[in-house]
Amino acid sequence: MPVTVVIGGQWGDEGKGKIVDLLSEEVDVVARYQGGANAGHTICWEDETFVLHLVPSGIFHQGTTCVIGNGVVIDPAAVLEEIRMITELGYEVEGRLFISHNAHLIMPYHKKLDQARERYRDADAIGTTGRGIGPAYMDKFARSGIRVVDLLDRDALRRKIESAMEEKNAILRSVYGADELDVEAIIEEYVEFDRFIDPYVTDTTAYLNEALKDGKRVLAEGAQGSLLDVDFGTYPYVTSSHPTVGGCCTGLGVPPTAIDRVIGIVKAYCTRVGNGPFPTELEDATGQRLRDVGHEYGATTGRPRRCGWLDLVALRYTAMVNGFTDLAITKLDVLTGLDELKVATHYGYDDKETSRFPSETQTLDRVEPLYETLDGWHDDITGVDRFDDLPDAARRYLRFITDAAGVDISLISTGPKRDQTIAGDEARVRVMG
Ligand code: IMP
Repeated sequence: MPVTVVIGGQWGDEGKGKIVDLLSEEVDVVARYQGGANAGHTICWEDETFVLHLVPSGIFHQGTTCVIGNGVVIDPAAVLEEIRMITELGYEVEGRLFISHNAHLIMPYHKKLDQARERYRDADAIGTTGRGIGPAYMDKFARSGIRVVDLLDRDALRRKIESAMEEKNAILRSVYGADELDVEAIIEEYVEFDRFIDPYVTDTTAYLNEALKDGKRVLAEGAQGSLLDVDFGTYPYVTSSHPTVGGCCTGLGVPPTAIDRVIGIVKAYCTRVGNGPFPTELEDATGQRLRDVGHEYGATTGRPRRCGWLDLVALRYTAMVNGFTDLAITKLDVLTGLDELKVATHYGYDDKETSRFPSETQTLDRVEPLYETLDGWHDDITGVDRFDDLPDAARRYLRFITDAAGVDISLISTGPKRDQTIAGDEARVRVMG
């Protein structure tokens, strides 16, 4: 049975948490393939809100098992805290959560270096979450990272941490003028961590491929969004991993031939946190309105998100890179009350018009979005669960997205809760001709 991949089609925060939570009902395994505790997936149900950073949201469905793949960088404190919270809510975690033995660990020096480097870059800062993501992936590719499997051998673990910290403390001290970290305290913390994490660690690649062979259905969950991909995003204002579809294969060890559905999660408008180009950004009252109505504040850092109109140039690009088979449109209800809605269909650049998304920042910084203006709607659509019950203007807006992106819509979210959703045939908006 094949793999469905869920991918953010913008700059992250598209509302993947809710969609993964919904789709988890229909699958046997939910697997996270990249990123770390920089992500925050918010799930609202039964009047409660949960934010998960590492554990896939499928954990709230008793019949589903969850995997944190080798492509994820794991902050031990964050994962243990999440396991504690989920257990306290009455869910069984042991036997249902599997962590890759090959996943890299985020060490305290990664966080410290991330924050120190951002201060050092000053005006050129990326605006990272400060969770140590970049430095952890740097160590992975420099082949000096520490992996979950290294926790098994305490002497080797001690040697690796000592050797890494000699270098990191020197950098912290002499390059960034920051305080050094205590080697013994870190060794003690990670040895202790091993005691707790042990029951969850396994060869998740073997587990997933075995599951696929047994006909199980797997949902692969990307974190962040395609435009934050280190290769395909707005470099250097990106994260350090691959949220795009290739990240699913390298971050889990499942073959591309096992993937038969790639769902792009697309917010009905755009947001981004951190620095970097954002052609359709609105730094006016409409932008503030989207922020207020959409509660656009970071789930991980609490930072206000930058808000703007939907960018179809960017969406066509992420649809191309990922091969989206269908789209889930989220937060449509947030647009209610606006007289008119703009959507960027092209960019103007050097007196020319282009429909190409230039992922090089130099060009993207200089493009002017060219908008099509569509009618807005005023009827409250919160909780609408039938396409035909949406106002005409909302239906036209969705059809416009489908046609411009060249991808069908298969799910529409009209509120944060599970049942505030148009799904199945009800939601199918098909590309015309
Ligand atoms: P890092 O991933 O913490 O290194 O941050 C790099 C960039 O990715 C920054 O602009 C962050 O704001 C952004 N970023 C990281 N994680 C998320 C996320 O889950 N949602 C949205 N933006 C994110």
